[in-house]
Amino acid sequence: MKSSVGYICTECGAKSAKWMGRCQVCGAWDSFEEYDLREETVPAAGQKRPRNLLVESSSPPLRLRDGADQPAKRTKTGIGEFDRVLGGGIVDGSVVLLSGEPGIGKSTLLLQIFSRAAASAKVLYVSGEESFAQLKMRADRLGVSPENLYLYTETDLQKILEAADRLQPDFIVVDSIQTMYDPSSSASPGSISQVRSCASVLVARAKNTGTAVLLVGHVNKEGGISGPKALEHIVDAVLHFEGDRTQAYRIIRAVKNRYGSTNEIGVFEMTETGLAEVENPSETLLSESTDGASGCAAVCVMEGTRPLVAEIQALVTPTVFPSARRNANGVDYNRLCLIIAVLEKRLGMKFWQNDVYINVTGGLRLDTPSADLAIALALISSMTDRPVKKKTICFGEIGLGGECRSSSFGEIRVREADRLGFGRIVLPVKNKEKLTGKPALELCGVRSIYELLTFLEKKPENE
Ligand code: TYD
Ligand code: MG
Repeated sequence: MKSSVGYICTECGAKSAKWMGRCQVCGAWDSFEEYDLREETVPAAGQKRPRNLLVESSSPPLRLRDGADQPAKRTKTGIGEFDRVLGGGIVDGSVVLLSGEPGIGKSTLLLQIFSRAAASAKVLYVSGEESFAQLKMRADRLGVSPENLYLYTETDLQKILEAADRLQPDFIVVDSIQTMYDPSSSASPGSISQVRSCASVLVARAKNTGTAVLLVGHVNKEGGISGPKALEHIVDAVLHFEGDRTQAYRIIRAVKNRYGSTNEIGVFEMTETGLAEVENPSETLLSESTDGASGCAAVCVMEGTRPLVAEIQALVTPTVFPSARRNANGVDYNRLCLIIAVLEKRLGMKFWQNDVYINVTGGLRLDTPSADLAIALALISSMTDRPVKKKTICFGEIGLGGECRSSSFGEIRVREADRLGFGRIVLPVKNKEKLTGKPALELCGVRSIYELLTFLEKKPENE
């Protein structure tokens, strides 16, 4: 007789016909558990297994053009930065996964958002991590006492579904999906198959009832193996909450969105009384800038359709190590090495004798080539110990030949720099040529990095 038992890795969900000490897919030790193969077989005719059905099929195939227009119904939460990231609010019946490192502020953000939403909607906030008293204390700290927000401290999925059926909420928040377990699944709580099973039950409920669900998922520094990654394909949107825990700024970014673009970001600041929206991030980030010190360069990058001004700081110091150190904080390490190599080759600067540290103020991450010029300018400035001229900002990409390449959205970047009172913008010549408006600030088109030196102050005479 054929055996009806198989083995599944509780870490990554890999399956195997025989037990193994170490999973060959994810490398975890002692992670294989028995599971019933019959659960996997196709159900007999007439038997329905709604547990694995994400969307109920109710009609034969339809021609797309014959379908009625069904605009997605969205509910605005009232927290503009969050609504923007989702493309204008939460879509009915959608499932959103909010992922981030522990302690970054996911629970705080959701409690704030849904306290606001609970003024006009019914919210069921399920927590498997904190007690009622803890949640109440947090709500008091945030200064909210919402009318229609129901807290439920539970980890059993069946009980949660029963509570949801009784309460009929408009939104369900599940904090966090890793703490939930489905008693009908044989896998151990916290394992990847439990997480997946709970999530798909909640997705099915969202699709069938139109109740939007928000799932919280913890990830570790490396991006997280145990959970959120495995859920990305079954949810409608994945928002990533990122930032440096030691810094006040937090950025929420859509990495997947079935109902909108994934370009938008929302910026928040962690304060004593919860997260505050930062509507003008450029101004806030600039208020901390260090005018007049060598190694600092302002840059205008695009985050979605929004321009954002930040400051890049470089420190170049003689090395005491056999091979010089490079430390990139907020910019891509390989990009930094490439720019250093271009400066060494084209300008003859001796970076190999120096350690290089790069930092972006406010704990931001600038993963865009349009920050190249600013990184180069900051490096040259620190190397020569000559500050960048006052009220100067730049953007543009650098090629391997030292040429400056144009970046997209030049017009918007220039307008933002103008609005913030910069006196001069250093930009690729191509971008300058394409500009149509006449901004008040001086436009300095550059073709190559050789021209960057002209934007540094002269060294004081007495040195
Ligand atoms: P939390 O929302 O619990 O993080 P997560 O759910 O992502 O694990 O919040 C984490 C941190 O936020 C906590 O260490 C303290 C800080 N915090 C504030 O600084 N101000 C506040 O008003 C609140 C509620 C939290
Ligand atoms: Mg939490």
